[in-house]
Amino acid sequence: MDLFDGLLEKAQERYDYLCREIERHNELYYVHASPEISDYEYDMLMKELEEIEKQYPELKKDYSPTQRVGGKVIDEFKSVEHTVPMLSIDNTYNEAEIREFDSRIRRSIHDIEQIGYVVELKIDGVAIAIRYKDGIYQQAITRGDGFRGDDVTDNVKTIRSIPLRLMKFAPHSLEVRGEVFMINKELERLNQIREEMGEEPFRNPRNTTAGTLKLKDTRQVAQRKLSAYFYEVILEDSDKNIIQSHLETLNCLKEWGFPVNPHWKKCENVEEVIEYCNLSRNNRYSLEYEIDGMVIKVNEHTIREKLGTTSKSPRWVIAYKFPAETAQTKLLNIKIQVGKTGTLTPVAEMEPVPLAGTIVKRATLHNFEELDRKDIRIGDIVEIQKAGEIIPQVIRPILELRPPDAKTFPIPQICPVCGSKVQKDPEGVFYRCLSSECPAQLKQKIQHYAQRRAMNIEGLGPAIIEQLVDKGLVKNIADLYRLTREQVIKLERMGNKSTENLINAIEKSKNRTLSALLFGLGIRHVGQHLAEILARNFKSIEELIYVDIGKLTEINEVGPVVAKSIKDFFSTKTNVSLIEDLRRLGVKTREIEENKGIEKNIFNGKTFVATGTLKDYSREQIEQKIKFYGGKVSSSVSKNTDFVLVGDNPGTKLEKAKQFGIKIITESEFEKMIQEDAG
Ligand code: IVH
Repeated sequence: MDLFDGLLEKAQERYDYLCREIERHNELYYVHASPEISDYEYDMLMKELEEIEKQYPELKKDYSPTQRVGGKVIDEFKSVEHTVPMLSIDNTYNEAEIREFDSRIRRSIHDIEQIGYVVELKIDGVAIAIRYKDGIYQQAITRGDGFRGDDVTDNVKTIRSIPLRLMKFAPHSLEVRGEVFMINKELERLNQIREEMGEEPFRNPRNTTAGTLKLKDTRQVAQRKLSAYFYEVILEDSDKNIIQSHLETLNCLKEWGFPVNPHWKKCENVEEVIEYCNLSRNNRYSLEYEIDGMVIKVNEHTIREKLGTTSKSPRWVIAYKFPAETAQTKLLNIKIQVGKTGTLTPVAEMEPVPLAGTIVKRATLHNFEELDRKDIRIGDIVEIQKAGEIIPQVIRPILELRPPDAKTFPIPQICPVCGSKVQKDPEGVFYRCLSSECPAQLKQKIQHYAQRRAMNIEGLGPAIIEQLVDKGLVKNIADLYRLTREQVIKLERMGNKSTENLINAIEKSKNRTLSALLFGLGIRHVGQHLAEILARNFKSIEELIYVDIGKLTEINEVGPVVAKSIKDFFSTKTNVSLIEDLRRLGVKTREIEENKGIEKNIFNGKTFVATGTLKDYSREQIEQKIKFYGGKVSSSVSKNTDFVLVGDNPGTKLEKAKQFGIKIITESEFEKMIQEDAG
């Protein structure tokens, strides 16, 4: 018994140490962007912590870093009352209104000469309140109606920059408030995956954040990387004197380990406020996230108290909302795009117009229902907007300017490319072309099949694909492998050398991995990640043809929708004969064991650091790939780094690599390393 107590005590000690240490590294990485250890070392600490939790489940705490990966399924979001209402704030829209706000304050506080303001960015996210008891994370609540919000504790826990335990001394009872949001890059990453899976893209970061916080599967929340910044502290009356101003609020938040937006300014008068607002407005598109304005706050708490609150909002704070970046232009035509899975998307072609830093001439109209609901007609002057710096969208027609001959655009009954029947998607608002032989779909399918991350057929770009399909040389993917030199050389812009290269690239693609082929086939819901999982679970495509749905759903990451989509694909006769054709033509449809062995180890023991934006990989994907081939990934450059992989806009890591004399490689050099060794 004594011996056991001793062991438990030791485990407890180590457990506490690991919890603190991992959370300290989380803060260094996610809040300060200056990690002290490599990802590998971090993983080792996590692994050790998981081991202890497995061995001594009684030690497991809610605030353990292992609790951030999700795994809970939420039944229903409990409604919780706010300690102090989360009031809204008044909006202003121009300089004059900001000046009025300042005059109003100075009129009611006439005994103080100077009123200091803190001006912050107004991030377009979702407001959140988080409660801590004795420094430990307790509960996270959405704003809701301001008086009651939803308990999203488990979902918010997955946000790694939010501390689960406060490092420094903190009051017994503490509530912090701030904004949860998604950076634009993360939205792009998610949309890329959604596109691969044939799902409708998310429209803007704000809605995606709100939707993510309401997901019932916390694991899914953990996979979408949310961010947060905090700007408010609520203390019990007895602790109120700890913080006397907004500057002190920001300082305390930082000391406790919360992420605080570094962009803010202390302004001594309204002129400075306006200047900083205008400056930020001009710089808004260089930020990683969306802001829709500025928030102007009186700094001193004594002054805030004197000003008080109306029933709706505090008198010491105001939002300055940027005018929406919209433009008006003429809608010249509506074209229909046919996607890889046959989805028909209406696209607006407009007279070119400058908007938020670029010239825009095309915009999405999303889908036909929306087109109809907004009553947008060809010939209309339309208002367009850039939402989330992604694709511009048409907001509305300017009815007063509608020309008499403006034409409505009917929902197509047949596919504009192949003339086959169009059907409405039973699950959504989409119309799809049902023909598997539709040339538009075929072109998209081939492009998807040939891309680097799939079968990697270099030289098979859109212009060539267009000709191959239009000339009837390629009627399905298998036909690519039947192409002859004589056929290819006759195509426009093809010479001897490029023909040779293309034929070789097609030939070489026969030996791609099973996961590349699975991804390349363009099965709905099967993106690159899922293709790798399938390849790990099944040795060949043939095995997948006969698999039953139960076996598919046994795989952790395969849900019922995905399983059905896979089953549907492999029970379609044309798909099965396509696969048979591919195999007959020499495409490897099974994982070659020896090949896999070589592949897995080509980077054995080598440490990689990636810096900058890569063209074909997200951070997560490149890390997976390096690990797949036996390499290690580190977040910081040291003497032990073997390769630094550089993308666009590399950071200081590149400088450091040069200093240490470490081998620097580009993305295409990285690809070459894989291909040469994998054969
Ligand atoms: S202060 C009482 N500061 O904008 C003061 N709000 O309507 C409460 N927001 O719901 C808010 N950035 O979600 C404040 N730096 C910032 C903000 C900010 C974004 C949001 C917040 C609030 C809304 C104001």
